[in-house]
Amino acid sequence: MKTQRPASQFQPLETYKRELFSTPFYQMKFNWNYDEIIKDVRTAVSHVKKAYENDSARNYTTYFEREIHDKYISPKGWCKQLATNLKDTYMDLMHKEFMFELNGLKRSDVHLHLWVNRYTDDHSHNAHNHKGSKLSGTFYVECGEVCAPIIFESPMEYANMLFATRDCNNRDGQTAHHGVPAVQKEFQFMPRNGDVLLWPSYVYHHVPRQQDQEERISISFNLSHPEDLSYGFADDILEEIDYGFLTHDK
Ligand SMILES: [Fe+2]
Repeated sequence: MKTQRPASQFQPLETYKRELFSTPFYQMKFNWNYDEIIKDVRTAVSHVKKAYENDSARNYTTYFEREIHDKYISPKGWCKQLATNLKDTYMDLMHKEFMFELNGLKRSDVHLHLWVNRYTDDHSHNAHNHKGSKLSGTFYVECGEVCAPIIFESPMEYANMLFATRDCNNRDGQTAHHGVPAVQKEFQFMPRNGDVLLWPSYVYHHVPRQQDQEERISISFNLSHPEDLSYGFADDILEEIDYGFLTHDK
């Protein structure tokens, strides 16, 4: 038979908790006339749709159609301003948060790969990460009344396994944490118009299919920069060699 012990006999030690090995996650706003951006994204995606009519894995994004992207998105004033802000934000974080030395790097040295998306209720995106970049992100332009969240998975997969069966939710209106007090398993973000999110590219994330999703317009991007790993072992003239002759036969 189970014995009920009085609470006075419950004697845990006073515990101080430290959070170790955190995952940085950044949030900001990009202010613009969103109607202008929405119009351009709709136009670009309508051209993509002609190429991938019934392919719901590709017909919502300019990711696979660079020519369309460069014609309808890249030249726009809002896109240039967004690119400038994203590059500077990235370098600011690389400097302050990741302690990189950025001597000699110009804004043009920052690698920014950007593409636009227009989800309806046909679309979703399975769990993936963005290998080869340092930070990845999304700018949400139009989310509508009913809008799919973006869901991030904890990179501490082995910790998830220990606590996966004792899930509880903790919601604050825009975000939801899944897991237990000791281990956060999943972080769900409900985007609002103008939100920009930035996270380490190694973090897996997905967008579930959302019933009654009319239109969810977002702009996704990857950011990285060249690191100076040269310690000057070759002389100045030899350093100028162009490796373009190392080509592969097609
Ligand atoms: Fe992604």
